[in-house]
Amino acid sequence: MMQLLAICGSLRRASSNAAALEAAAHLAPEGVRIVRCQGLAKLPYFNPDEDREEHTLPSVLEWRRQIGASHGLLFCSPEYARGIAGVLKNALDWLVPCAEFPDKPVAVINASQRATHADAALRLTLTTMSARLIDSACITLPLLGRNLDAAGILADAALADALRTALDRFVAAIGTDPAGTV
Ligand SMILES: Cc1cc2nc3c(=O)[nH]c(=O)nc-3n(C[C@H](O)[C@H](O)[C@H](O)COP(=O)(O)O)c2cc1C
Repeated sequence: MMQLLAICGSLRRASSNAAALEAAAHLAPEGVRIVRCQGLAKLPYFNPDEDREEHTLPSVLEWRRQIGASHGLLFCSPEYARGIAGVLKNALDWLVPCAEFPDKPVAVINASQRATHADAALRLTLTTMSARLIDSACITLPLLGRNLDAAGILADAALADALRTALDRFVAAIGTDPAGTV
């Protein structure tokens, strides 16, 4: 069974990014499980002083464990003030010094047709951190202003098709990549 970790940069209850990831989980190809990452808001602010082997915090160890246990990472995050959501950037900063992240296959689903700055910035951060960005699996879903939950996304043929195609491409790319093994 291939496991993909769905990482949402929004903490909002009715988040469109969370809805897109929930819809993606319903469209996972056979043999693939998409698991939603939960602990981002529990991470402390990144501080290299707190990242020494003898006292790395449990929340940080758990975050890194989830990364290490996944064959690929699916990101979906809002744009705030033309940048990456702080909660996600903070979580990524905790991964910079860790061994689990480099070469990890990643895809970015941009849930807003207007959020071009955060999308570009997130991709730049991920590639700078030596992730393997699967471009063909990165899509923009025009969800802004539509107020759709996961069921609404799945009921829209164009949105569901775009998600399904992106997932198929992501899984195919991981399948041919030895770095995608865990
Ligand atoms: C404080 C704040 C700043 C925002 N800044 C931007 C922005 O710079 N560009 C943009 O396209 N949308 C911006 N937005 C809109 C959000 O990105 C948009 O509402 C998004 O759908 C929120 O994601 P969510 O539904 O998953 O919570 C901002 C929203 C908030 C609350």
